[in-house]
Amino acid sequence: MKADIELELQLKNRKEKGGYRYLKKSDNRMIDFSSNDYLGLAKIKEIHNHSVNFIDNGAAGSRLLSGNKNYHEELEAYLADFFKADSALLFNSGYVANLGVLSSVPQKGDTVLMDELSHVCIKEGVRLGRAKYFNFKHNDIKDLEIKIQKADGNVFIVVESVYSMDGDQAPLRDIVEIAEKYEAAVIVDEAHSTALYGKAGFGLSCDLGLENKIFARIYTFGKAAGAHGAAVCGSRTLKEYLINYSRQFIYTTALPFHSVNTIKNGLKYRRDNPELWEDLKLKIQLFQSQLSQNVTSLDSSHPIQGIISEDAKSTVEFADYLNQSGFDIRPILSPTVPKGKERVRICLHAFNSEEEITNLCQHINQYFQ
Ligand SMILES: Cc1ncc(COP(=O)(O)O)c(C=O)c1O
Repeated sequence: MKADIELELQLKNRKEKGGYRYLKKSDNRMIDFSSNDYLGLAKIKEIHNHSVNFIDNGAAGSRLLSGNKNYHEELEAYLADFFKADSALLFNSGYVANLGVLSSVPQKGDTVLMDELSHVCIKEGVRLGRAKYFNFKHNDIKDLEIKIQKADGNVFIVVESVYSMDGDQAPLRDIVEIAEKYEAAVIVDEAHSTALYGKAGFGLSCDLGLENKIFARIYTFGKAAGAHGAAVCGSRTLKEYLINYSRQFIYTTALPFHSVNTIKNGLKYRRDNPELWEDLKLKIQLFQSQLSQNVTSLDSSHPIQGIISEDAKSTVEFADYLNQSGFDIRPILSPTVPKGKERVRICLHAFNSEEEITNLCQHINQYFQ
């Protein structure tokens, strides 16, 4: 079709530049160093099983119409308690939860300041809204303060508790302090700390005791919780506002029972098995201690690790080499990360054995010898 011609040109362009993407099936024979299932909860039978005497394969409506079920409300009450918040509101994914909050909460005349390395759903959410927005330098409090001083209206500071491609943490205490100084509201995307950080897996904000100082926290369940979906935690007013004004909440079919049940069982399982995270922390240390000095790796204490290459081509070649050696590992290319910072992203898991990690490090070291 005629419309395809332009698309083909764009794809050709991407292939020539070396950033072409395609869908690749997960190969069960390979060792998983790629998924976000950090604790292996996605594969635990106990979490999957649910014995209920009703069938509800789909919620069959949006929450404001016929799709609001007891199981949604029960989970929201559980989540509010789990994440130490006055309220929790479910969204269908972390992507839409960020769109939902950021496109509706900041008003015309307000200013949103977001970390330059924010996930695309944060950037996209802010763009959909009517407030002005600016980036501040990654984790740079001085730059943030300069930008707050120039900002108009209510100011919203948006950060990730852990950055998805670098595995480093936002300096949350400093961010909250500066927000208090200027009466700004902080919004934290907890995607990569949900079900991981803190004694029970309640994420970084709660682990630091900052939950009452943060305006909105976005928890996603598709990563360490091993499920799918997301929740926004904050005040009751925030919840009521989102129910009224967030198009991403209003105009979509509610999460099905299976997802709701998996989220609840997954979080309970994580709370009851804190040794999973303790064990994974040791594996992160093992990985870092075994990499040779020639290897340029990320400075991360999170399961998200990475080896930086020079460009897209060498990143793809390195990833191919690791794949051929039996490791399921993916290259991360621009525009997901800045040009020149292309990398092979390595996710460590509680289920990766010490031998597998040692073997992976030996292969990485050999490649860079
Ligand atoms: C920081 C961050 N926020 C939000 C999302 C989106 O979450 P979900 O996969 O639940 O849509 C991701 C997913 O990659 C992420 O890394």
